[in-house]
Amino acid sequence: MELSVAIITCSSTRTLADDTAGEALAELIIAQGWTVSTHVVVPDKRESISEAIVDASVESDVILTCGGSGLSHKDVTPEATADVCERNVPGIAEAMRAASMLKTRRAMLSRAVCMQRGSTLVINLPGSQKAATECFDAIYDQLEHAVEMTAGLGH
Ligand code: MTE
Repeated sequence: MELSVAIITCSSTRTLADDTAGEALAELIIAQGWTVSTHVVVPDKRESISEAIVDASVESDVILTCGGSGLSHKDVTPEATADVCERNVPGIAEAMRAASMLKTRRAMLSRAVCMQRGSTLVINLPGSQKAATECFDAIYDQLEHAVEMTAGLGH
């Protein structure tokens, strides 16, 4: 199944030109035979992130946000995700944290969520290239099935 995957980097300092985490995610997506539907960098403001999720959900099976899921008060990606999504999918975020805890105990500081917006799965990844790709590696093998289930197909 060829997935259409959006990358939304949430950062007020990065641009597309230096979005190394987003670029690394794009390479991993393409390596799976999937398509990058859109790749944008938006300011780490709650409304900007929500708006980008809504826009990307029109043409994406999966949306990967990148950054803004930590404990600082400017980290608002989980809240922005919840603003425009309906249902929580806790196991995907739990799997990322469990895998990441084997690499760094700082993983417990992630507030990342995974939620469904209609038939699109929105997944918060951390912002550093290393952390984002480690988290992607922890869950990518279940994404095709997750998308099929989200679209209402059976096991
Ligand atoms: N997960 C992995 N695999 N590797 C990491 O280095 N860093 C953690 C966590 N998850 C980390 C990780 C840290 S320090 C934070 S603050 C949270 O992700 C949130 O990161 P973000 O604020 O960049 O979204």
